[in-house]
Formats: sequence, structure tokens, C-alpha cells
Amino acid sequence: MMSRTLTLCCLLGLALPALAELGWWRSAQFYQIYPRSFKDSDGDGIGDLEGITQQLSYLKEIGVTATWLSPIFTSPMADFGYDVADFYNIDPMFGTMEDFDKLLARANQLNIKIILDFVPNHSSDECDWFIRSAAGEEEYKDFYVWHTGKVVNGIRQPPTNWISVFRGSQWTWHEGRQAYYLHQFLAKQPDLNYRNPKVVEAMKDVLRFWLRKGVYGFRIDAVPHVFEIAPDKDGNYPDEPRNEYVSDPEDYSYLQHIYTTNQPETIDLVYQFREVIEEMNAELGGDDRVLLTEAYAPLDVLMQYYGNATHNGSQIPFNFELISNLNINSNAYQYSELVHNWLDNMPEGQSANWVLGNHDQSRIGSRLGADRIDSINMLLLTLPGISVTYQGEELGMTDVWISWEDTIDPQACQSNPNEYERLTRDPVRTPFQWNDQPLAGFTTGSETWLPVASDYKLVNVKRERGIPLSHLNIYKQLRTLRDLPTLKHGDATVNAIGPNVLAIKRSLQGEKSYITIINLSDDVESVNLDAVFAGLTAELKYVVVSEKSLRRKDDVTFANSVLLMPKEGVVLATV
Ligand code: NOJ
Ligand code: MG
Repeated sequence: MMSRTLTLCCLLGLALPALAELGWWRSAQFYQIYPRSFKDSDGDGIGDLEGITQQLSYLKEIGVTATWLSPIFTSPMADFGYDVADFYNIDPMFGTMEDFDKLLARANQLNIKIILDFVPNHSSDECDWFIRSAAGEEEYKDFYVWHTGKVVNGIRQPPTNWISVFRGSQWTWHEGRQAYYLHQFLAKQPDLNYRNPKVVEAMKDVLRFWLRKGVYGFRIDAVPHVFEIAPDKDGNYPDEPRNEYVSDPEDYSYLQHIYTTNQPETIDLVYQFREVIEEMNAELGGDDRVLLTEAYAPLDVLMQYYGNATHNGSQIPFNFELISNLNINSNAYQYSELVHNWLDNMPEGQSANWVLGNHDQSRIGSRLGADRIDSINMLLLTLPGISVTYQGEELGMTDVWISWEDTIDPQACQSNPNEYERLTRDPVRTPFQWNDQPLAGFTTGSETWLPVASDYKLVNVKRERGIPLSHLNIYKQLRTLRDLPTLKHGDATVNAIGPNVLAIKRSLQGEKSYITIINLSDDVESVNLDAVFAGLTAELKYVVVSEKSLRRKDDVTFANSVLLMPKEGVVLATV
């Protein structure tokens, strides 16, 4: 049957509107590529754009809808690209603008959407804007946050006690400008001044540039840090209060960041960025563009990112509940509570999203248990809404231990041999494991920028393709399920059945229901699903099983007594 618009257009003899897919992102699979570690095409041991282009078909194979790339822009790489020197260019390490255009073209062919990382809070100190600001050039002099400091007992001191996320003062003295500049992260990452409308405009232009090139949106970096409190009438800022339980005065957690994070202006800025997205949707037509916002912030703040009665915001404010608040000992009540935190607080009409990994956080297998990898992927892919997978989680890659001597993550290098393991992000950034060839098929060269995991002969794409119940194949089966209307649009009921078992029911009028059950414990569990879910059939069919299962796909069980092996996760369906 013809759609109403189509019929109307035919009747009136109008040109057809572009067949834009509105809301494609609402049940999409997002996949994060960390370009340095995905695939190296030129043998220098660092991943690049050409490498990504070569492997985009793999993303298609695992059913990815959209992929967000960590920064690929010109950078001295002090924070591995999160220190952008030129917001309009590609770093030669990753390739050229031509390579990026090729990547976009290939992605279009495969119907995979490319999302870029947008780093608004800071630039590199090697950015032209900063160099001109430091030189006091009229146009740029207030592009960053400058202050001449305080003089106490004849000695010059930073204007406040604020501490950088990466340790030490947030203020660094600049000899040329004879003033301190603010940096919430490294000294090589000076904060842009969002109280200057020219900065806001300059950054909106960056968004427009890449959208016109054909990207479908942005993952916005470090959103809570974008604004600091406004200076008082004398241009001064207040000190932040202490956290008494922390004794190390250089550590970020020494202070409560009430003046440097989550300022109300930040929410409004996200709404403004969304306006740019809408402006570009109107200009360019086609499918929706999206904003994904990175904020480790209280839930009530995150919910405001979605928008309010008068403004739209970020469609995907990253939901880090399951990253930040679960550990290897968490029980099913805690899992359930965290899932409910999002579902029950989300504004109406919005979509939930679930983020289980990224390049800053310990991997699923290391954080929640290697024997729970399949179960956690079941959770990720059967909860309602958007799933976000970090590269390698579909294979069950785990953290790689790296010695202090070999550590290169600045967050860890600014600490010491006793503390670096708590801070380092190197273990989750190691090269992607493609096959059992030397260096896991990541590079044709003889070295890699971070070591390849020693388990690569067992954990790699090629091998896992051939094993029916490998992490990869279970991930793919789950992904296929997501095309079913029930998984796409259905309701979700989430319950703990005692401390050991978590159960999720997805249901849709007139369709089969799907039930994910995860046994978190080392005990055999028998559960009665009729006691927690209404409307099940007496018998249920196994749809996805794991290596731990005694049952096979298409076997049946009674809903009132489902037997689960230790750490087993399965998906069942009504019959
Ligand atoms: C968050 C990014 O994910 C992280 O890798 C980076 O170091 C900081 N923001 C600073 O940009
Ligand atoms: Mg390379």
C-alpha cells in the first residue's frame, strides 16, 4: 500500500520528498572505533582511516548502524587526539581529507553512518586560536580563560585552587601573555572560553563544516567541563571546597567541583548545538543527524540533556549507569535498579541508551567478569533503545596489563608507579584482534603503538567466526534479534529474581515476547518466570544460548522452572 505522503504527492503531481529515515537512531547499534587501534593500513603500527575503510564491511557483518570515531583531527597527540590543533583537518597520522572522503563514501555504500568526536571544551595549545590568544591578538584574546593570578606574600599564585582532571593545578602560567590560562585537563589542553560568543559561533561552524561533509552527528566530549562559574565583577573566581576523605592535594577528587563542572549554561549550550543539527537537517535533508553527549554527571542533569518543553537536546545523552556503578560483585537487584534508574526517569518520547564500554573504561570482561561477557552483551542488546559497543567488546577482548615503564596514557603518566594502574587507560586501547597472524593482523609493520594482547590467537575475529557459540557469534545472533518488532519497539519489564538472576521481558501486542535471563552467580539456579512476568506461554523456546548452556537453540523449557547454569545467560521466546 502506498504511504499517505506518497499518494498525496502523486495526486498533486508534486516531486517526492527525500525518503528520510526519521528516528533511525532510536533502536540503532552504535559502535565506537578508536582509530589508533582499529586497523593500520600503512605499517606504522598506528591505526588509520584507510584501515577503517578496509574494515567497514566487518561493521556491516556485526550489524552496526552508526559508528563514532574518537578524534581524527590534527593533533600533537598529548592526549591521543583529544587535544585538537586544527578542528578542520585530519591528522597526517590518520591520513588525509581525501582518505576521509573515501571512508564516508564507503560508509554510504554500506549504509553505515559516521559520527565524529567533537571536543568543545578545549583545543591543543598548538591550535592557532591559542597561539593568537596568547599573543593578545584582539580577535582571539578572550578565546581562552586567562587570569593574572594572585600575589600572596609577594609570590605569584594561580587564581584558584582548582585541580585538573589529570592532576595538579588547572592553571598554567604563560610567559608570553604574562597570565595564567585555565585547563581542566592537560596543560596542553587549554579550555576555550564559552562566555565569549565568538567561541560559541566558531565551534558551531566546526559542526556545520563536518555535517556538510556528510557525517551524521557528533559524540560531544567532556560536556560537564565546558563552562566554569562566571567571574565576579573584579574578574575573580571562588575556590572549590575540599573532599575531606581525600588527602592527596594534587588528585582531582581532592575537591568538589561545584564551580568547574555541570554549570547550568552547559545544558543550554547542548540545546544550541542541537539547533545547529536541526538547521543542518533542514539544509541538507535526508536522515536525521544526532548528538551523543559524554557526561559523567548526576541523573537529573543527564535527563536535562535530552531537552525540555521548549528545547530539544542531545538524542543520546550517554547512559553510563552500567559502567560507573557496577562491579564484579554487583547482584541482580543492583543491575535492575540501575536499569530502572534510566527507564523510569527518562522524559517521555525519548529513547534509552546503554553504554557498556569506551576507550576510558576497563573492559566488560575485566570489569564484570570474563565469564559474564555473553550475558552482558545480551543485556546490552535486548534492553530497549540504543546500544553502544566499544570496539572489541563483541569479541570479548579484555584489559591488557602494561608496566609503568611502558605506560603512555597521560592520565597515568602524571601519577606514579604506585597509582598508575588505577588511572591508566592504555589497557583498553590496545590493537584490535583481527586474526592469529603476528600482531593479530592489526598491522603489516613490526611494532604497534600499544602492545597486542597475548590472548590474540584465541580471541580474534577470524577464529570466532568459525566457532558457533563464540562471543562474536552470540553478539551477531543478538543483533539479528533486534530487527524484530518486539525488540525494536516493544515494552520492557526488568526484574531481579532474587540476588542472582536478572530477567528482562520485551513484549509487543500481537507479537512473541522475548525474555533475557542472566544468572550472575556461580550456583545453578532454577527460576519461575510466571512469578515475575504476566502473559507468558507455559512453554518457552531457547532463542539464544551460550557456551555455558546445557540447552540448544530451539529447545523448549517450562516458564515456571527454567534451569540456569552458573553464569549462564539465555534469551527465550514465547511459543
Ligand atoms: C573524555 C575522553 O573520552 C578522554 O579520552 C579524554 O582524555 C578527555 N575527555 C579529555 O578530552
Ligand atoms: Mg598507520
